[in-house]
Amino acid sequence: MDILSKVKRYREEENELKWEGTFADYLAIVKERPIVAQMAHSRVYNMINSSGLTQRDGQKLYHFFGEEIFGLETSIERLVEEYFHPAAKRLDVRKRILLLMGPVSGGKSSIVTLLKRGLESYSKTDDGAVYAIKGCPMHEDPLHLIPQHLRNDFTKEYGIRIEGSLSPLNTMRLEQEYGGRIEDVLVERILFSEDKRVGIGTFTPSDPKSQDIADLTGSIDFSTIAEFGSESDPRAYRFDGELNKANRGIMEFQEILKLDEKFLWHLLSLTQEGNFKAGRFALISADEMIVAHTNETEYRSFIANKKNEALHSRIIVMPIPYNLKVSQEERIYEKMIRDSDMNHVHIAPHALRAAAIFSILTRLEVPKKQGIDIVKKMRLYDGEAVEGFNQIDVEELNKEFPNEGMNGIDPRYVINRISSAMIRKDVPSINALDVLRALKDGLDQHASISQENREKYLNYIAVARKEYDEIAKKEIQKAFVYSYEESAITLMDNYLDNVEAFCNKNKIRDPLTGEEMNPDEKLMRSIEEQIGISENAKKAFREEILIRLSAYARKGKRFEYNSHERLREAIQKKLFADLKDVVKITTSSKTPDESHLKKVNEVVARLIDEHGYNSISANELLRYVGSLLNR
Ligand SMILES: Nc1ncnc2c1ncn2[C@@H]1O[C@H](COP(=O)(O)OP(=O)(O)OP(=O)(O)O)[C@@H](O)[C@H]1O
Ligand SMILES: [Mg+2]
Repeated sequence: MDILSKVKRYREEENELKWEGTFADYLAIVKERPIVAQMAHSRVYNMINSSGLTQRDGQKLYHFFGEEIFGLETSIERLVEEYFHPAAKRLDVRKRILLLMGPVSGGKSSIVTLLKRGLESYSKTDDGAVYAIKGCPMHEDPLHLIPQHLRNDFTKEYGIRIEGSLSPLNTMRLEQEYGGRIEDVLVERILFSEDKRVGIGTFTPSDPKSQDIADLTGSIDFSTIAEFGSESDPRAYRFDGELNKANRGIMEFQEILKLDEKFLWHLLSLTQEGNFKAGRFALISADEMIVAHTNETEYRSFIANKKNEALHSRIIVMPIPYNLKVSQEERIYEKMIRDSDMNHVHIAPHALRAAAIFSILTRLEVPKKQGIDIVKKMRLYDGEAVEGFNQIDVEELNKEFPNEGMNGIDPRYVINRISSAMIRKDVPSINALDVLRALKDGLDQHASISQENREKYLNYIAVARKEYDEIAKKEIQKAFVYSYEESAITLMDNYLDNVEAFCNKNKIRDPLTGEEMNPDEKLMRSIEEQIGISENAKKAFREEILIRLSAYARKGKRFEYNSHERLREAIQKKLFADLKDVVKITTSSKTPDESHLKKVNEVVARLIDEHGYNSISANELLRYVGSLLNR
């Protein structure tokens, strides 16, 4: 479908969702589907739940965040369980400002954006539908029309508790437009939209001198004052501040602690009492979730100031530390690159991983626990198996530093460095070494890195480089061994014949000459040594292989080259050791021999077809591994 048809369909869909009726009609809807009358916090919570969740290893993964926010499962679980859920149940936390506190570029704004976009879509669904008094700039909850003295009766009949009182403007309209007949008041369905300023508000601090409270609570409309005669006539007031517009939905305060105090005081009564003061009117009820974010330094200096105590007690702080999992960090970079204008550049496999290893190391605290270093800790955090450690150790490590993840390198720095690496290189293809080099070069310009950290970070770049070297060698090994699969099979058959003869104390027959010979000890050892089997352990290992072999034979199964995990590893390593020479020769000599060249081309083709390289990065990898092997 072309874009114009899509636009048309979208408009039609929005039109289909339109609904308008009297308050009496609306009550019929509420009777049938009380959920439409839910309050803002409950709507947010139900929206999150409506995307579903999975439980894994005792951790709840909320799908709502899962596609966009990576590695913050623990923080998000806490956010839902300690704020969204109890707030939806009308517990006291909903009367607090939710303050996301975390290091720069750690995903705070992304979480809030996700909530905002989510609400926009959710308000188009049946369960997320929102209705409002028609023509009200604050899209007031129609149930506010029910007079206070009848609300207990209403609750008994409908099972819904009404909070908040009818706004001054609608009180006046009810009298003047509807002659006090609340059942006739027109109600409409509204769709949340940040652009149209419906149900979603955002407030960003700007110059304190010029920032006006009217931005939050609206202002007098001087053009109509003459018409209505008085400043206290609600018709002479524009209810178009962010707090007005966010009614029924969500209100975001960016960098909240940079705001002038006078703004913050408005939030006190709004959060606690559910209302705020605008112009010369009685308090205006508002039902909105207030989400704010800030960084740790600002937060610390805020709470250090005694004057802020009252406000502080009305804030619920949720730490949003950096992600600490390498594989998730890679996904963050992938997403950021996809969303940027550099997504035409080829990024060689493992380049982002190398960067992620570096970033995560800078965020981790060095473990105190015996026998574990920071690299092992990094692996364990990412769910990798590390010999001698298990899940309990991971939990212990987590407890060692409860505030881990509040410092270190941020994703934005990494992405900036990657883009500068792209600019520097004249081919549109960058690899792990380019990325690590760019990260290293940038450390000098990074304003917030202390001298001490700089040295630590340089060391982590070296660690990341070593990790990458291993990955690179394995990659080439895999590609080579594949091209040499036949050789692997021959080598294994050969080994098995010898092991059989060795264990049964037999001779072995030379396939060509038919001559009887002793088992080839040198060949067997050259394979076993690859996986560290000592002279003393060789007999047990060979017997184990033989037992496996006969077990396969008994079941009529073929013993394949990968039927025994360690043997497979040994064979691959042995082959690779032999191949090293081939790699060295073909990558270093100017005129490699033709059969070698053919193999190398096969390997390059394989890297491209199956491992995500392009011809530049595949050749770069090959050369690099060649140089590693030559060391
Ligand atoms: N855990 C994460 N999952 C997904 N994306 C992330 C994560 N952390 C950071 N990002 C990405 O990093 C970039 C910066 O994140 P964001 O703006 O949300 O951070 P922030 O905490 O609001 O930072 P700041 O304090 O600088 O405002 C975004 O592009 C975001 O997508
Ligand atoms: Mg932000």
